Amino acid sequence: MTRKQRVLVIGATGHVGGQVVAQLAPTGVAVRALVRNPAAAALPAGVEIAHGDLRSPDAVAAALDGVDSVYMTWPMLSADVADSVVEVIAERARRIVLLSSAAVRDDLVEQDNPIGRAHAIIERPIRESGLDWTFLRPYGFATLTLEWAPQIRAGNVVRGAYGAAAMTLLHEADIAAVAVRALTNDGHAGARYELSGSAPLSRVEQVAAIGAALGRPLNWEEITPTQAKSEMEWIAPEIADVILGGLASMVDAPGQPTSTVRDVTGSPARTYAQWARDHVGDFR
Ligand SMILES: NC(=O)c1ccc[n+]([C@@H]2O[C@H](COP(=O)([O-])OP(=O)(O)OC[C@H]3O[C@@H](n4cnc5c(N)ncnc54)[C@H](OP(=O)(O)O)[C@@H]3O)[C@@H](O)[C@H]2O)c1
Repeated sequence: MTRKQRVLVIGATGHVGGQVVAQLAPTGVAVRALVRNPAAAALPAGVEIAHGDLRSPDAVAAALDGVDSVYMTWPMLSADVADSVVEVIAERARRIVLLSSAAVRDDLVEQDNPIGRAHAIIERPIRESGLDWTFLRPYGFATLTLEWAPQIRAGNVVRGAYGAAAMTLLHEADIAAVAVRALTNDGHAGARYELSGSAPLSRVEQVAAIGAALGRPLNWEEITPTQAKSEMEWIAPEIADVILGGLASMVDAPGQPTSTVRDVTGSPARTYAQWARDHVGDFR
């Protein structure tokens, strides 16, 4: 009898990793999750739990016992951690699918922005590891707009900068659908998948879509980029600058969709309106 394929999911409690776990279940592979806090993990029945942190090579090694393929969300740790994690994985598994970022640029030796740098740190050792690798390089996630939830729960106004900035936000289920294809099928080794959502929607239109899902109208209140930055105190200032710079650029040049989700999965990327309906409970 052939052994069941086993996938280790790193980041299983996160937005994308949670969807990867959910979508792997019907494929029949065995799923194991590396989690830092098993008591809080709340994973579906049947998922094996391996307790550990990416910073601990021993814990990662133990979690890899009998594993063929790895899905990894990279929580932007140091280059030392990246090197040791990849070494441990490459000794034990055959395939890795990494959630990276569209901020990584292949035409640069040194990345020109902190988000690209943080992901290049893990892409480089993976490329050199001998593993079969697939890099998912998404543009913005729809989950970014969960930052509006407290304002929407409290009233009908969302304050923000660059309301006219239009982008193709991704449903986490679509990123996961691409990941699951790459984890469970051949033919994706060496791919760098640039992922986007469907048609571009401005931030004002995104707020309206949440209002439509909730069944009550919501309004956008424009604030200056300086005000917006001062309210992003939980984000490192250089990352806030990258985010605000990205929004500014999408006022005149809306983010354009890629066809990758459809090409890989056979289904078009979900719309933002769909995402808002799927997440309506987060805004109530
Ligand atoms: N947001 C965007 O628009 C965007 C765009 C492109 C790329 N990305 C990239 O996507 C990634 C975030 O994906 P996401 O939103 O799905 O993530 P998320 O919801 O923030 O979840 C992060 C996951 O990583 C786990 N984790 C964090 N530190 C860990 C550690 N030291 N050891 C083991 N596990 C650890 C967390 O586990 P716990 O439950 O223990 O915390 C959680 O499961 C980032 O790398 C980001 O740069 C994001």
